[in-house]
Amino acid sequence: MLTAYDYSMAKIVDAAGIDVILVGDSASNVMAGHQTTLPVTLDQMIYHAASVVRAVERSLVVVDLPFGSYQGNSKEALHSTIRIMKEAGAHAVKLEGGREVKDSIERILTAGVPVMGHLGLTPQSIYKFGTYVVRAREEEEAIRLIEDAKLLEATGCFSIVLEKIPAMLAKKVAEEVKIPVIGIGAGSSVDGQVLVLHDMLGLTHQFNPRFLRRYMNLFDDIKDAVGKYIQDVKSVDFPNDNERY
Ligand code: KIV
Repeated sequence: MLTAYDYSMAKIVDAAGIDVILVGDSASNVMAGHQTTLPVTLDQMIYHAASVVRAVERSLVVVDLPFGSYQGNSKEALHSTIRIMKEAGAHAVKLEGGREVKDSIERILTAGVPVMGHLGLTPQSIYKFGTYVVRAREEEEAIRLIEDAKLLEATGCFSIVLEKIPAMLAKKVAEEVKIPVIGIGAGSSVDGQVLVLHDMLGLTHQFNPRFLRRYMNLFDDIKDAVGKYIQDVKSVDFPNDNERY
């Protein structure tokens, strides 16, 4: 699984053969430059998701329910989900949390919408955690996380994302539940991996967690290309005789 938030990137990622595209609320950081995922709105998520869906020919498109669009009550969660499904044409939604969002998951499922869970570091709760460090190192939190994973499975989630938890704990969760467990900073003993596309392509420079593998350095490549374009325009090398009408 990889994230995408727009038509052009989604087209490439889909063509490359990815199984799942996540229209993550990380759009708040990556696309809009916010410090956290909290500011992105439901309308903005729908705009991103609709652009992605228009590009996709084969991948499953999962869309994050943004902060404030589902925590109020299960009715609000269903209402937000229905907007995402109707207005964007998404295939499934993802939401953060365990037992505290059980009622919302149940209600969304009764409307026939597949739900992906998200446990461990849940960035929408950053002001409760106070930091983006690894979660569930302590036994009490680890036990609660395993219980929540089982509960998400029993409630009917089709998959769970585990973010930034010890690899041994992620392995245990993957052994305890049958649904696919997708890790980010959770080691390799899970069923799949997810990364933020802009991070793995090196479009972003500021974010350097240990779990991130950069496959390209697009920040520098694009900067160089833009620099060359500026130079060519200033020197009137561009456009040349073949590049005009
Ligand atoms: O918003 C997002 O990109 C995510 C992934 C990091 C799993 O939730």
